[in-house]
Amino acid sequence: LNLEKGSVSWQSPSNIALVKYWGKYGEQLPKNTSISFTLSNCHTNTKLSFEKVNASSKFQFEVFLDGRREISFEPKVLKFFERVQVYLPFLKDYKFRIETSNSFPHSSGIASSASGMSALALCLVNMEVQLQSGMDGQSLSEAEIQKASFLARLGSGSACRSLEGPLIVWGVHPEIEGSSNLFGTKFPFKIHPKFSNYRDCILLVDKGEKQVSSTVGHDLMHKHPFAEQRFEQAQSNLSKLIPILKNGDIPEFIKIVESEALSLHAMMLTSMPYFILMKPNTLEIINRIWEFRKKTNSLACFTLDAGANVHLLYPEWEAETVLQFIKLELADFCKNKEFIVDQVGFGATMN
Ligand code: PMV
Repeated sequence: LNLEKGSVSWQSPSNIALVKYWGKYGEQLPKNTSISFTLSNCHTNTKLSFEKVNASSKFQFEVFLDGRREISFEPKVLKFFERVQVYLPFLKDYKFRIETSNSFPHSSGIASSASGMSALALCLVNMEVQLQSGMDGQSLSEAEIQKASFLARLGSGSACRSLEGPLIVWGVHPEIEGSSNLFGTKFPFKIHPKFSNYRDCILLVDKGEKQVSSTVGHDLMHKHPFAEQRFEQAQSNLSKLIPILKNGDIPEFIKIVESEALSLHAMMLTSMPYFILMKPNTLEIINRIWEFRKKTNSLACFTLDAGANVHLLYPEWEAETVLQFIKLELADFCKNKEFIVDQVGFGATMN
């Protein structure tokens, strides 16, 4: 193997939190534990090509999105390289070409930071393994995946939950052995079969740039009047969710997941300065979901991330009826009637 030159390539998915991470300290460490479903169809493919150069004082890389140079991504990658260089000391000895593409439209309002940062972190750890072993094509060990999750966290907090699946915990929780603030770990208990192939339909309410970034939102938790209560609430919601995920009690699952979504947005409403990321159609959709549940006894529920889009979660056996409901009612509240049907997945794969 030529260690002067090579390439590695990974596909990594997005994830959707059930208990939300909102508020951090130190080097992207979470103030509370979060747990997420790993997604499947929404993912990023990243190819990292590297070539040895005379050690330089700066990082050398170019980023391409869908085959075209994307200069707007480069400050984010530079910041990431600066943060991770102590853990990957070879970075300045190489020049990089980072070619990336997302399975979902770039302007869909779906954050590509979780899938993108986890894919890049996996490529870098894979490259390190190649350099150390002198061999390519090797899959990563558990310890190496953990290192990639650790590095992904430094790129974007929630990215550390995208490498594996189907349910990933990030942040120390007393009832979850092995949980850490530094990286994501698999939910360590047997998950009830009712949650297998769980669906997540992402209803694309607003595709524009967010008015307030999640970085700013996390920072506003520092002087937030309800911050401590919120962090306690998240810990306690995860304690309640553990038995539910084991015993398949979906009505109780719904209560926690919907409350978490609204609590996240309540933090935004009560920050100083305050802000609102939901749009009128976000609330229309939520109300329609509640009506649909009342009328049909469906087990579909919603969650939100830091934006206006609604994630509709439902069990596999409701796939057809819920899809009908989406097409007939909810799609009207989406930009260009667009939505993305996804389902729970098992994490990143080497290409
Ligand atoms: O990973 P960040 O810094 O973009 O924060 C994401 C936070 C939420 O998506 C709102 C919640 C979560 O846990 O994913």
